[in-house]
Amino acid sequence: MDYEKFYITTPIYYINDKLHIGHAYTTIIADTIARWRRFRGDDVLFLTGTDENSQKTVEAAKKSGEEIISYTDRLAGAWETAWEKLRISNTDFIRTTEERHITTVNDFWERLRAADDIYLGKYEGLYCKGCEAFKKEDELVDECCPDHKTVPEFISEENYFFRLSRYQKQLLDFYEAHGDFVAPAHRFQEVKSFVEGGLEDISFSREKQDWGIPVPNDPRQVIYVWADALVNYVSSIGIEGWEEHPADIHAVGKDILRFHAVIWPAMLMSAGLPLPGQVIANGYLTVGGVKISKSLGNAVDPMDLAERYGVDALRYFLLREVPYGHDGDYSEEKMKERYNADLANGLGNFAARVSTLAEKEELKALSLDIEFENQINVTNGVVVKKMEELKFNDALAAIWELLSFGDRYVNEKKVWAIVDNDNRRQAIFNLVMLLEKVAIILKPFLPETSEKISNAFQREGDVIYVKKIDALFPRIK
Ligand code: MSP
Repeated sequence: MDYEKFYITTPIYYINDKLHIGHAYTTIIADTIARWRRFRGDDVLFLTGTDENSQKTVEAAKKSGEEIISYTDRLAGAWETAWEKLRISNTDFIRTTEERHITTVNDFWERLRAADDIYLGKYEGLYCKGCEAFKKEDELVDECCPDHKTVPEFISEENYFFRLSRYQKQLLDFYEAHGDFVAPAHRFQEVKSFVEGGLEDISFSREKQDWGIPVPNDPRQVIYVWADALVNYVSSIGIEGWEEHPADIHAVGKDILRFHAVIWPAMLMSAGLPLPGQVIANGYLTVGGVKISKSLGNAVDPMDLAERYGVDALRYFLLREVPYGHDGDYSEEKMKERYNADLANGLGNFAARVSTLAEKEELKALSLDIEFENQINVTNGVVVKKMEELKFNDALAAIWELLSFGDRYVNEKKVWAIVDNDNRRQAIFNLVMLLEKVAIILKPFLPETSEKISNAFQREGDVIYVKKIDALFPRIK
């Protein structure tokens, strides 16, 4: 078989706390795309990991009274386990404290320096520790960082700078030539306007810090969080690997889009390396309209939801409820409503209904009625198109329309009561094929459910046996 390589990444997450549903959201999006690509026959590399070289880590370790190394090991382990429990299909997990990353960051720095894009200068300005980023006065609301609601600290120190300003034209030309470099489109517009507004050189190191990767040949400084973190995408596969096949998609949240769509491409240009194919940005998950974050104390635990509703139900909610690229509000009521309406009554009920009809029959392979064939083809086409447009919610809606079509057919034909054996078997055959098709196309979205349904089918010669599929999604009160 002819495999296409496909490389997708999530952000690497800070480990100052356990993960919340906002982190899970970005990772589940990337996982859905990774699974979709595998489903379409690609050979997928899927990278996630942890961003450990931050002051946040130092403070969190101190707070928990642990040595920093054992703290980072413990937390990185906890994140990795959490992703396993959420059935995330990553093929690599990178930690920024790993040797392979440190080596790559050093090589990368050397390349930028050799290109004359690194120089020593003085930095004065406001720094938000929550964002690990410098802030301009006009980005603040009531003197606070709008995301973290904290007052940034004034910093004055000697730093190494990256000549970002040099890349304005090159970036704009690149955006022009790659019309879908950032998706969704409205986010690309924001990025372009930002770059058109002019770029300033940015600080790439910090003074007087004892945690982080030291600047090569100047151990008084450590490499600034982002100049270190972004390189992880290369560290996973090595510089040569990246030259051969850079990331196809970086999936990120809108809060870190600029780092990925402006600074990162400029760093790669400076290093003489190829640029990623696309950066896609999700909106914020909010609770009562407020961004979920640990510092605001409104975190929703995805592990708890996965336990109570199931991993697939959590995936379904996030993919179906929030149009990609927009903010979406989480509430337990909405979660329960989606669960009961679409999963328990919708998919679960249909699977039970069809399998109950089918288990009593010996079903020979027949040819599918034309209306079923058409309906299935239409759904396929819509799902492929919607996946290209990152409209996961519409892709799922299309699959649910196919389910409704099947449901209507059962009711209108009163399939259970058809007396003529041939006619009844044909009707049930149609429904079984439809259910099987749904199971197949749901694979990237609801992997466990897809498997459960597919496992109920067994073929022997040209006979299809269907086992009863019991409550896939028991109703929740
Ligand atoms: N460590 C940096 C990323 C470095 S990537 C080279 C970082 N980490 S983070 O843990 O703070 O957040 C990472 C990502 O988590 C965000 O970009 C976003 O994708 C996701 N989210 C965190 N909170 C979120 C919401 N409330 N809603 C949606 N996504 C959120 O930034």
